Amino acid sequence: MPGLVIIGAQWGDEGKGKVVDLLAEQADLVIRFQGGNNAGHTIVRDGDTFKFHLIPSGILYPGKLCAIGNGVVVDPKVLTAEIDELRRRRVDLSGLRVSANAHLIMPYHKLLDQEGEAKLGKLEIGTTRRGIGPCYADKASRLGIRLQDLLDEKILRKKIYAAMEPKRAMLRPYAKLPELDLHTMTEEFRILGHRLETFIADTAPLAWRVLDDEGLVVFEGAQGTLLDIDHGTYPFVTSSNTLAGAACAGAGVGPRSIDDVWGVAKAYTTRVGAGPFPTELDDVLGERIRDAGHEFGTTTGRARRTGWLDLVALRYAARINGLTGLVITKLDVLTGIDPLQIAVRYLGPEGASFEDFPYHQSILHRADGDYVELPGWNEDITACRSVDELPRNAQAYLDFIADFLCIPIVMIGVGPGRAEMIWTGAAERLRPAAA
Ligand code: IMP
Repeated sequence: MPGLVIIGAQWGDEGKGKVVDLLAEQADLVIRFQGGNNAGHTIVRDGDTFKFHLIPSGILYPGKLCAIGNGVVVDPKVLTAEIDELRRRRVDLSGLRVSANAHLIMPYHKLLDQEGEAKLGKLEIGTTRRGIGPCYADKASRLGIRLQDLLDEKILRKKIYAAMEPKRAMLRPYAKLPELDLHTMTEEFRILGHRLETFIADTAPLAWRVLDDEGLVVFEGAQGTLLDIDHGTYPFVTSSNTLAGAACAGAGVGPRSIDDVWGVAKAYTTRVGAGPFPTELDDVLGERIRDAGHEFGTTTGRARRTGWLDLVALRYAARINGLTGLVITKLDVLTGIDPLQIAVRYLGPEGASFEDFPYHQSILHRADGDYVELPGWNEDITACRSVDELPRNAQAYLDFIADFLCIPIVMIGVGPGRAEMIWTGAAERLRPAAA
């Protein structure tokens, strides 16, 4: 299994970070391929808590090759802060690489993100306001600034000027901010470039070399399938392709380098920000799940919306990513909820019913889940380390999912800790010796 893509199969926050962290021990390279510091996850290692937004958490394994691929948008201030913090905690950074072709989030991108959301008012997307959308927009407009540009002051100044010119009108309210002054910005970013220089690299060949040597490359996705700019719930999406297919363009490998695609999904559903959510539980039960699952964003601290597991959306995610394996996380959060519901189709207005994920926004906005009811369980499952140890009803819940999707479940999260993971037979070959 040399090329393994890990993606979110729902609306993000599925627990990909923990899965990648566990796989990183066996990997020869972990490479992120899209998104930016709109993502975030927390890793607890030997009692110490680490928060990551850009650097793959695999960096906690000394010397591990961890790359930020060309498809990622990088806020150099966030990246240098993450590097400084890891250095302070004596983490070995010798394996860190950042693609010279990755685009930079500039101060004006963050302002435009805030400004854009404010202008939308009630129609706002609910972005993380990290400048992600405006940065990808500049990339597509060929006005982007890349990490390599930081290393040549003249080019940097020219490119910043060219990128800011068309934005003058929108940035007028901020015109006096020192951070938007061309000279100040060029100088600040030149210094950031100097600090990042040792990490800037051509990252695609790193993946080619590992793949040629039959090593394991883990392609780490961010956000989730339903936030994909093409196939998600547009316009309530992020500004990149979050699907497994994006691993190729965002890391620089061909489709034949991908051997397996694992989708990570919670045993229920959450979403942050605005947009349709057919299985949403806007009630006491939804709140109970939010509290039990600590469903508050790592990046923005926002309370996540919660709901039942949605197999219509998950089957769509399985198809559109070509999933070969499914990781179900946070199964323990459902302990004590009886009965459980799983959506197997959507119901629309006037008795319409939809077996497949509707492409039309208006339908999706008005769709509700049509549920199958399954019995819950009350036993504490956090100590279970094999499927056989799970209560019968928990096993039945998982079987229902796997049968519906026709995809094997490879890992099951039964608690927040690293060890609280069941590796099913399908994942056994990638299981680290210590797990
Ligand atoms: P943006 O990516 O900041 O532009 O936000 C666009 C949408 O994606 C918003 O609904 C965000 O809440 C959502 N989003 C972005 N990143 C994440 C993430 O890592 N987890 C969950 N939702 C996210």
